[in-house]
Amino acid sequence: MAVLTDRVAVVTGGASGIGRATVRRFLDEGAKVVVGDFNADNGQALVDEVGDADRLRFVRTDVAEEAEVEALVGAAVETFGGLDVMFNNAGVGGAFGPITEIDVDAWDRTFAVLVRSVFTGTKHAARVMIEQGRGGSIINTASIAGLGGGGGPVAYSSAKAAVVNLTFTTAVELAQHRIRVNAICPGLIHTPLALGRHADQVRERISGQQPWPDDGLPEYMAGLALYLAGPDSTFVTGEAIRADGGLLAAGPRLVDLTDPYQSQQRYSGFTDGTTGRPAEKRRLAERT
Ligand code: NAI
Repeated sequence: MAVLTDRVAVVTGGASGIGRATVRRFLDEGAKVVVGDFNADNGQALVDEVGDADRLRFVRTDVAEEAEVEALVGAAVETFGGLDVMFNNAGVGGAFGPITEIDVDAWDRTFAVLVRSVFTGTKHAARVMIEQGRGGSIINTASIAGLGGGGGPVAYSSAKAAVVNLTFTTAVELAQHRIRVNAICPGLIHTPLALGRHADQVRERISGQQPWPDDGLPEYMAGLALYLAGPDSTFVTGEAIRADGGLLAAGPRLVDLTDPYQSQQRYSGFTDGTTGRPAEKRRLAERT
């Protein structure tokens, strides 16, 4: 059974990548969707491709501008009569380069698109949801870049860390209204933003880092967004869920770094550290 039948969702950044895959998934699950995206050509292309004006509407939106986010939420209410799911997902790479070279303006623009948008999206969606009195689900796209260093440029990573905390903080405040707030933290997802023109090189380089052998696809993030939007996550709020093919779980790989002969792969047993007792070990059969 479709889990979002007659639910109304707003998806920012819905004209490409993760947002686009989520729009399609939400539509498949019976939702009515309003897409807000800066890129009007891609937004119109999606509308034409789906061909269901009764359930999909595109509103050209700059999520960095509060008035435009408010209008986007208003369009959902006017067109489809309410709002149940707000997916604050639009994003850009933003400022890049060494911190000694980043202009304040570029830093502020990064935060306007990545953080202020989540604040205003949450603010205006929550106003509608509280007024409706039937709860709701707000989903924010953060990133594993917001969970540690080395996952993205400094402004981007700092902004995504702010999105994670904004998620926690607003989840606490809005729980009394049965409005859940959660974040997804994607790893490397194969979208135009992440791969750009160097898709083949990126794919080759990530394969040595990411434990899961398959590419990260936007459809996987859409599945996670659907879970957070739908009834199966009723008791889940204030959560930042990683979906990264094990990238962060793999961590610094100290096991490999401190075991130059890869004995972990060739032996099994028990080591007694520096006690003076010898290690017990047995050689494993060679795997082909
Ligand atoms: P994408 O570039 O395919 O899609 C992003 C969409 O956001 C585009 O349609 C773009 O026009 C729109 N957008 C950008 N700035 C906007 C603005 N000011 N107002 C309205 N729309 C705007 O990128 P992708 O990969 O689907 O990114 C979606 C989200 O996922 C972003 O927040 C990104 O930071 C995040 N993310 C992506 C990862 C990846 O590996 N692709 C990893 C972790 C997080």
